[in-house]
Order: sequence, then structure tokens, then C-alpha cells
Amino acid sequence: MKKARFITLEGIDGAGKSTQMSRIEAALDSLGIGYLVTREPGGTPLGEKLRDILLHQDMHPETEALLMFASRAEHLSSVIRPALEAGTWVISDRFTDASFAYQGGGRGLDYGKLAMLEQWVQGTFRPDLTLLFDVPVEVARKRLMKNASLDRFEHERDAFFGRVRDAYLDRAARFPERFVVIDSGAPPEEIGERLEEVIATLCL
Ligand SMILES: Nc1ncnc2c1ncn2[C@@H]1O[C@H](COP(=O)(O)OP(=O)(O)OP(=O)(O)O)[C@@H](O)[C@H]1O
Ligand SMILES: [Mg+2]
Repeated sequence: MKKARFITLEGIDGAGKSTQMSRIEAALDSLGIGYLVTREPGGTPLGEKLRDILLHQDMHPETEALLMFASRAEHLSSVIRPALEAGTWVISDRFTDASFAYQGGGRGLDYGKLAMLEQWVQGTFRPDLTLLFDVPVEVARKRLMKNASLDRFEHERDAFFGRVRDAYLDRAARFPERFVVIDSGAPPEEIGERLEEVIATLCL
């Protein structure tokens, strides 16, 4: 049996990650791969409580980063690692690249501190594949306007999302072996086809 893979979905708010999750699930189903879908912050009962706080309560940027990694420590130890060890693939809507993009790029937190937390919580553990849904900030903003209620991050200004997007693209350039950048300005159907191709090559 092929080693279980850990796939993460990244991109600014409104990029279309959640929309494409069902397409990824369908691709894995058709390949007969067992998987579980999860998200960050969240993915565990404690993580979901932390998510609620992170999305709605104002706090210092360092507190925000620490809570993100606290949620991640719980997620890794109780969900992600056990699933992978049992041969189940794990697909996570956001993971550590989001900490570098939002708390690092967006909020201006020192990357060295984030790298220390990454090392502490994960050691050398990294995703096997990171799908970066890349879209111009204005396009994502227009999509989000359709939502009735916005969280703390979605309330941020375009300049903030511009920095988050740039930080994501920097990481994609730095770790080309695991990143695939998806043009998320394309119609959903086109993106879905691209995702099917990418998932199929993972299984070769
Ligand atoms: N390719 C696309 N073209 C046009 N609209 C899209 C596309 N993908 C998603 N949308 C719409 O954009 C909105 C945001 O999409 P979605 O919730 O999937 O984004 P997200 O990346 O998961 O955002 P968040 O980070 O806030 O969870 C939704 O209303 C969705 O229907
Ligand atoms: Mg989403």
C-alpha cells in the first residue's frame, strides 16, 4: 500500500479552498483512497474552541500565533499523525503555511519565532503536498462580500490580504517540492480538473 499522504489547502480568505474540497474528495474516492478531511485552526474539540476564540476575540499577534500552534499541537497528536500512521490520507483546510502567511506576512510577526514554533510542534514533519489557491485580493474580496457575516480575519483590509498573498507566494517559491500553485481566479470547473490531475500524479 502507498504511504498515506498529508495534503494541505492554503490561500487568502475567499480564494475558494472550501469550494474545491468536495472535488478533492471525489478525486480520492475515485482512486479508492481512504482519507479524512479536517481544518485549522480546529480539527479537534479543543481546537474548535480555540478556533472560535481566534476568529472572534481581539488579541496580541503573538498570542494569536501561540494559540494557532497550540491548536496545531493537539491536531497533530490526536488526529493527523494517528491517521497517517493508520494509512489514512489527511486533507487539511489550512496548516502551518497559514501561520507564516497571516501571522508573519499579514501581522508582521518575526518569521524566526514562527519557525521556532514550527520546529517545536512539528519537528521535521511537513505536508507532502500544499495546494495554494492563488487569486488577486480584489477578486477574493468580491467573493467574500456575498457572505452574511465576516470573522476577524475577513474584516482585515486589502493591504493585509496583499501581504498574506505575497507571503504565501514566497513560501511556494521557497518550497517548490511540495507546493502547487492553483490559479484560483479560474472558473470552479477548470480548477477542479487541475486538482484531479495533481492528485492523480501524487498516486503514481
Ligand atoms: N472559482 C471560483 N469562481 C467564482 N467564485 C468562486 C470560486 N471559488 C469559490 N467561489 C465563491 O467564493 C466564495 C468563497 O469561496 P470559499 O468559501 O470556497 O473560499 P475559502 O478559500 O474557503 O475562504 P475562507 O478562507 O474564508 O474559508 C464562495 O461564495 C464561493 O462560492
Ligand atoms: Mg473556507
